[in-house]
Amino acid sequence: MENIFSDQLTMLRQKKSLSQEIIAQKLFVSRQSVSKWERGDAEPDIDKLIALADIFGVDLNYLLAGQQSSKELLLKLIAVNKKFQNPVLRGVNLTIYGRDRIALLGSNGSGKSTIVNIIEGTLPTDSGQVEKYFDAKDDLNVMPQENVLIESLRLEEHIVLSASIQRVYSKQIVHDLLEKFQLKAQANIKISHLSGGQKRRLALLLSVIRTSKLLILDEPTVGMDLESIDFFWNYMDHIGGSVLTITHDFNQIDRYFNRVLLLKNGVIWKDETVAKIHSNNQTIEEWYRKYNRNEGEII
Ligand SMILES: Nc1ncnc2c1ncn2[C@@H]1O[C@H](COP(=O)(O)OP(=O)(O)OP(=O)(O)O)[C@@H](O)[C@H]1O
Ligand SMILES: [Mg+2]
Repeated sequence: MENIFSDQLTMLRQKKSLSQEIIAQKLFVSRQSVSKWERGDAEPDIDKLIALADIFGVDLNYLLAGQQSSKELLLKLIAVNKKFQNPVLRGVNLTIYGRDRIALLGSNGSGKSTIVNIIEGTLPTDSGQVEKYFDAKDDLNVMPQENVLIESLRLEEHIVLSASIQRVYSKQIVHDLLEKFQLKAQANIKISHLSGGQKRRLALLLSVIRTSKLLILDEPTVGMDLESIDFFWNYMDHIGGSVLTITHDFNQIDRYFNRVLLLKNGVIWKDETVAKIHSNNQTIEEWYRKYNRNEGEII
């Protein structure tokens, strides 16, 4: 068993606001045992692991490896319609499973962010269904296209506040995040004084403070410098759960994602695996250009 388990245990326990004592009582073990598991000094028996997965409401695979089952159904959009002045979404059908790595592509104004807002629940649909098979309060993280930051706070204060709201605050977590996202030097700077790229990096940090079953990133790398973009994609390799990303960063799509969606004419025009595209000797960019030609065409 790798160390991922000890991190998962600590994270899930904090997320559920359960103390080591409570976990110990539920499993009929000593608090010291739970503490050793979290430090990675010892491992529980399989029956305790099963009981732990049950307590946290996650599957065993997720508890052990930080990854969900690829077959776990997470989200279904069924015939979703949305109109502003003009119709934007005209019958969007979309199913997302655990461990999907989805790139959502489409022209400016095609309705990508509208889909994100509908999934997040900040925008109502005109008709259609949005079925979430997870608790959106705990298991959905979103990095919106426009930063939602409290400009009057200092950077570290903002992280503390967001971590507290998400019930995962500890001094250690804040310290680790500042280090990992290379924002330590800016810890005491007011958000309003940060550069655009620094704000984007902070927005990303805030969206991954806690783990989630589904992480949605709306054009995360826009405004970031090359080093930050590299950092971002490397960081993505370490994210568990499903990820839906809107990006025009074609260099990376081939490497990171396993599924590509093309939103066109108000519907999911194409839903393809990256493997299939590659097997046709195409890059994602070539595939995108081919199918996104002639927006408005009927077939
Ligand atoms: N609140 C709103 N009121 C009126 N029109 C809106 C609203 N939100 C979105 N729209 C319109 O809906 C369309 C889709 O917008 P959306 O932001 O979803 O596009 P997008 O695919 O995310 O584009 P981009 O690549 O530029 O981010 C656009 O024409 C936009 O003007
Ligand atoms: Mg958008």
